[in-house]
Amino acid sequence: PSLREFAFGLPKAELHLHLEGTLEPELKFALAARNGVELAEKTVSEVTATYDFTDLTSFLAVYYPAMRVLQTAEDFHDLAWAYLQRAKEHGVVHVEMFFDPQAHTSRGVPFDTVVSGYRRAAVRAQRELGVSAELILCFLRDFSAEYAMATLMEALPYKAWIVGVGLDSDERDNPPAKFAEVFARAKAEGFLTTMHCDIDQAGSLENIRTVIEEIGVDRIDHGTNIVEDPELVELARQRGLGFTCCPVSNSFVTEQMKTDEIVGLLRRGVKVTVNSDDPAYFGAYVADNYIALAEKAGLSHADLAQLAINSFDASWMTPARRTAHV
Ligand code: ADE
Ligand code: ZN
Repeated sequence: PSLREFAFGLPKAELHLHLEGTLEPELKFALAARNGVELAEKTVSEVTATYDFTDLTSFLAVYYPAMRVLQTAEDFHDLAWAYLQRAKEHGVVHVEMFFDPQAHTSRGVPFDTVVSGYRRAAVRAQRELGVSAELILCFLRDFSAEYAMATLMEALPYKAWIVGVGLDSDERDNPPAKFAEVFARAKAEGFLTTMHCDIDQAGSLENIRTVIEEIGVDRIDHGTNIVEDPELVELARQRGLGFTCCPVSNSFVTEQMKTDEIVGLLRRGVKVTVNSDDPAYFGAYVADNYIALAEKAGLSHADLAQLAINSFDASWMTPARRTAHV
């Protein structure tokens, strides 16, 4: 098969995907019309013209304001359902989807509206697409630790619908230690944990060390700056720690896919995986990311298969469900 056929056909798990980052301009217009929201941009090309990112901050400045079109549980369902159908076309059989409840509760949308809309799409994906879909609640690190803790408390009645918690948004001046207490409580409540350690952020390596040695996360999102410390790489390898890498996203926020870092970790036996992050904004769903990385780094079909195996190994599926899929 061609690279394209192989990448699309490969059964895979997607582990780093922000549901709010799957909002395509067409759906944004439809939701705006449904909810009577006035948008500054009137055409798809006017929307995509605003996707002029040079770093994480300039991306987030476009990402958050777009969310005001999301208001009802039906809106959240429709967003997730559109993504899940697309993911199926890309060979995804299991997905663990991030969502940012505080991006909605902070503008007056109830927590239950967000979670119940997303959950309905996840249940529907299993039934109608044969795709298993789980939710990971992300705290916004540029909000306070108190607000994160309050959000965690709001999530407790929904434990059966939320497999784990993560940490995203602007890492600058918001290191992992700020949320140590929130994550300790999340673990005590039985949630699995992951945190973004974004590419080339100030203090990135230090933050990676903190999340491994002090927070004790079950996975790391991005985290490829770990290559700067070979001993820490060895520790991550021994522990079988998963890294959710997003090559096309990297190329938007750092102007590089970070191919050498990702492939270097793969060759050393670290459980790196390939994911899409915010596919509507970066113009690449998950198989597109496999293809982009393969073309840039000259990866073989066997390498791509290893990345897909890693995606199941690093996932939070139970063993029984894992064997059902692979
Ligand atoms: N929120 C959505 N995408 C993100 C990313 N790549 N980094 C940090 N926060 C995010
Ligand atoms: Zn992300």
